[in-house]
Parts: sequence; structure tokens; C-alpha cells
Amino acid sequence: MDATKLRRAIARTRLAPVAAFPKRLARVARHDTKLLKVSARWLVTSREHHNYTYDLTWLSKNHLAWFVSVVCDTPIKQVRTYLQEIEKDDALRRHIEQTTQGAARRGLADRQVRYARRIGWYAIVRARKPRHIVETGADKGLGSCVLAAALLRNAAEGHPGRVTSLDINPEAGYLVHTAPWSEVIDLVIGDSIASIKALDTPVDLFLHDSDHSKAHEKREFDVAEAKLAPGAMLLTDNVTATNVLAEHAERTGRRFLAYRETPINHWYPGDGIGVAW
Ligand SMILES: C[S@@+](CC[C@H](N)C(=O)[O-])C[C@H]1O[C@@H](n2cnc3c(N)ncnc32)[C@H](O)[C@@H]1O
Repeated sequence: MDATKLRRAIARTRLAPVAAFPKRLARVARHDTKLLKVSARWLVTSREHHNYTYDLTWLSKNHLAWFVSVVCDTPIKQVRTYLQEIEKDDALRRHIEQTTQGAARRGLADRQVRYARRIGWYAIVRARKPRHIVETGADKGLGSCVLAAALLRNAAEGHPGRVTSLDINPEAGYLVHTAPWSEVIDLVIGDSIASIKALDTPVDLFLHDSDHSKAHEKREFDVAEAKLAPGAMLLTDNVTATNVLAEHAERTGRRFLAYRETPINHWYPGDGIGVAW
């Protein structure tokens, strides 16, 4: 009997789990060893303690392009052009790199500029041309700057807009104070719920990225509802952890779709973008 026939014969016996064990062990050991190596390298080379940054795999970027194309009803070629714009924006990269190097909290930030799923936020803003974006949770201001870069391009094409970035931490947003990006960003310090309630301009694009507890995420979408412009789009950064936006979409008669990113060379499994529209 040849090896294949023998394997197939064993697979039909009670010995099958024992025979398969070495192969299963090798597979999981290869996976865990790779993860351990990536984790050890990250511990030594990165300074980030939360809100990790990384680049996306080629495949993950391609899926993101199609995701944006579908949710924004925009041709895929156009979305790819938007994604190339942000990747080739050297002025923004230089600003983030230099400001990070001079920041008081540089000990907790990496020099290398990596946007991860935020390139999807950029493409969505380019495709939809919102007049007012609200981002809850600014942290260093990386996402705010990416959104601002898209708004500046929109303005150059005759579609001006602003982003209101909310954060509870008075030290948040050190990247948002430099022109030209600062010209379209309004940083508001305080609890996001109170800040949303105080908004006096209709919101075309709302992005939840603050306190990622399920209760806070739900409260933000509930409170934001009264502030939305007709046809507004809702985004969440919490879509790999909760079903809050999907449930909100169902309650409010919207469509919903989720994208899960895949980081390159990082132990963190990645986040995603949830969209309701
Ligand atoms: C994940 S970070 C935001 C990341 C940012 N959007 C980006 O693109 O890098 C979460 C931020 O939410 C802020 N935050 C936490 N709870 C908040 C609240 N109740 N109201 C406003 N901001 C809050 C934190 O201070 C933190 O800076």
C-alpha cells in the first residue's frame, strides 16, 4: 500500500487523532513561534503602549479599497487613487514625524508614521466630501490629521469641510496644532457625550474612536443621532469588539458593513471599520 492509501486508511480508524497529532503540533508551534518573535521584536523596537500603529498587508489594503468602494458607491479605481494620495502625502508624514520627535510624550510614540485603517477613513472622506466630521477620541491626533488631509484636498476641489475632534485628555492632540491641517481641525477637550450634545453644526460623518466600552459607544451613537445631517454616515473603530453600530443601524433603518484589517509584522490582530449608512 502506498503512503497516501495508508494515510487515508488510518484516517478511517480510531488511530486517526493520534496519527494527526504531530502534524497539528508542528502547525501550532510554527504559528506561535512566529507570534513570539514578532512580539519580542515589537517590545524592543516600539514605544507604543496603546493605540498601536502598523501598516496593512497588501491583501488587507486591497479589501479596504473594495470596502470603501461599496459603502461609498464610488468606482474602485477612484478609491485606489485616494489611497495613493494619502500614502504619497510626504508633507503630512514629515509633520507627524517631526512633531512626534519634539513632543513631550515622544517616549510613548514611534518615529515611523503608519496609518493602518485610517487610510480607509481618508478615502471615505474623499469620496463623500463631508462638510462636518466628528471624531470622538483624538489621542495624539493621527486620525484627525489624516481626516484633515482629506478635507484639505476636498477644499482644493471646491468642497470645504471641518473636523471636530473630541478628547477627554487635556494633553491629547499634539499633532493637530500645525498648519495647514490645523486650519480645518477644531479640537474640543471634555467628555465626548457632553461635547456631542453641545455641537451646533450638523454632522455628515461621525466616527466613534473614544472610550471603547460597549455602553459608551452606544451612548455616543444615541446622542449623535439628533446632531446628524440628512444622509449622514456613521463609522466605528470598535467593530471587531462590539455589535453596537450594527444594532444601531438596524434600529435606525440603515445598512451596515464591517471591514477587519490585517497588520503587517505586529502581534496585535488589528481593528476594523464599521460603517452604517
Ligand atoms: C483610541 S484613542 C483615539 C485614536 C485616534 N482616533 C487616532 O486615530 O489615533 C482613544 C482616545 O479616546 C479618549 N477618550 C476616552 N474616553 C473618552 C471620553 N469619555 N470622551 C472623550 N474622549 C475619550 C482617550 O483619551 C484617547 O485619547
